[in-house]
Amino acid sequence: MHQLTHQFNSTAKYLHWISALVILWASISGLYIAFFELDSNIKSHILRFNVSLTTVFIPLFCWRIYHRLKYGVPAPHPAMSILETKLAHIGHTLLYILVSLVLVSGVLMMGHDVNVFGLLTIPQLLQQQHSIHFFETLHLYACRLLAALVLCHLAALIKHEMMGKRILKRMM
Ligand code: HEM
Ligand code: HEM
Repeated sequence: MHQLTHQFNSTAKYLHWISALVILWASISGLYIAFFELDSNIKSHILRFNVSLTTVFIPLFCWRIYHRLKYGVPAPHPAMSILETKLAHIGHTLLYILVSLVLVSGVLMMGHDVNVFGLLTIPQLLQQQHSIHFFETLHLYACRLLAALVLCHLAALIKHEMMGKRILKRMM
């Protein structure tokens, strides 16, 4: 169902901004750890925190997808061409797909039980080493692709804003 207003509703806005914070933090800190030297103690603290944070994020992201499918998106910004609207739709769909892939591969690649902030434990789901390795590789590549797509998302937004198309307001 498409809404006739040009604004996302407040639930969609909250879900978008919480998701953005979690994904930006997990991507920036994860890539920093992967590519730069860091004290191994700090590194393992950040990794453990990120695993808990992103596991807690899974039900929230499921809610976001449910909300998106049930309530749709607002009518396109009047200044957007049909091509731009289509490209934005493809880009946003890819973002949803990649985040889902990153979350599923993250959980499946764990070679031990996941302790979520000391509150609950999710058992190791796969036992075979080659399956774990497959999902680990998938996670690493999907994360890098997601980070690149998020950069495109931000670049497109900045370009539209600079051309006077107030897209950001739709999500504020
Ligand atoms: C919002 C979702 C997530 C994002 C954006 C994310 C992002 C990242 C990034 C950028 C890396 C570094 C990749 C690289 O080396 O190039 C990473 C590694 C890792 N992620 Fe995720 N992740 C997410 C979800 C998860 C989940 C749900 C789990 C497990 C429950 C998980 C477990 C891990 C682990 C254990 C590593 C370290 C892998 C290694 O060094 O071999 N991640 N993640
Ligand atoms: C500071 C960073 C971010 C800003 C300023 C921002 C801004 C926006 C804005 C203004 C929209 C509405 C576009 C429209 O009018 O159609 C939007 C939509 C969207 N954003 Fe972001 N975003 C940010 C980060 C992220 C991140 C990290 C993700 C990660 C997946 C993301 C995923 C999405 C998706 C999937 C939509 C489409 C929503 C839908 O149609 O259901 N955003 N964003």
